Amino acid sequence: MSRKPIVGGNWKCNPAKLADAKALVEAWKEKGFDKEKVDVVIAPTALHLGHVKTPLEGLGMAVCAQNVGKNDMGAFTGEWTAAHLQDMEVGYTLIGHSERRSKYGETDEDTALKVEKCQEAGLKVIFCIGELLEERESGKTDEVNKRQLAAIIPKVKNWDLIVIAYEPVWAIGTGKVATPDQAEETQAAIRAYLKEAVSAEVADKVRIQYGGSVTPENCKELITKPNIDGFLVGGASLKPSFMEIVTAVQ
Ligand code: G3P
Repeated sequence: MSRKPIVGGNWKCNPAKLADAKALVEAWKEKGFDKEKVDVVIAPTALHLGHVKTPLEGLGMAVCAQNVGKNDMGAFTGEWTAAHLQDMEVGYTLIGHSERRSKYGETDEDTALKVEKCQEAGLKVIFCIGELLEERESGKTDEVNKRQLAAIIPKVKNWDLIVIAYEPVWAIGTGKVATPDQAEETQAAIRAYLKEAVSAEVADKVRIQYGGSVTPENCKELITKPNIDGFLVGGASLKPSFMEIVTAVQ
C-alpha cells in the first residue's frame, strides 16, 4: 500500500511572540506544497493555536494540539479535553511526546486514557514513542516501542485516526539524527509489531513518522526508506526552511 506522507511541525513552547508565529506562517506562504501529496500538521502552543489556525488552514495545513487531557470536562485546572478540540475544529493532537513523558510524568496508562478519549471524540492522534539512549545502547529499543504501543492498542477502534511518530529520545533537539538505516530498521520493527498485535491491514496503512533532529538536509535520504512516512519536526519547524522538508516528501 502506498501511504500518504505526513509532516508535522511541533513548535513546543515557541516562539516567544504571537507576531513571530504569524510571521513564520506568512514566510511559508512563499513556497507552496501539494496537499494532495502530503499532509502537513502544525502544533503551536495552546495560546497561539487559535490565532494561527486560519492562516495555517489557508496554506492547506491542519492544526494540532501538543497535548490533551485524560479526564472529562470539569474541575481539572489547566486541562482541555478531546471534545474541546473537536468543538474548536482542531483535528489533531500529539499524545505521549517524550517531553510529556519525561518532564511531566506522563505514563503509558495516561497515554492510553488520552487515546481512548480521542477515539471517542473522533480526534486524530499523533502518538509519539521512542527509546532513551541507554535503552538503545542496551538493545531495548524494540521492547520500549512495543511497550508504549501495547498500552494504547486495546483503546484503538479506528486506526485511521492514528499516526505513529517514532522519536528516539537521544535524537530530539540534539542534532544527532538517527541514520536512515537505524530509523528504517526500528520503524520496520514497529510495523511488524502492529501486524502481530493488531492486523496486517492496520500495519500496512498506519503512517509512521520519524522525529529527532530532522532538517531540510537530512530528510531527503530518510524519506527514501519504505517505512518512513514523513517526519515530526521540532526546531526546524520554527524556520521558513521547514517548507523544504514538506516539499522534499511530496
Ligand atoms: O516532536 C518533535 C521533536 O521532539 C523533535 O524535535 O527539535 O529534534 O526536531 P527536534
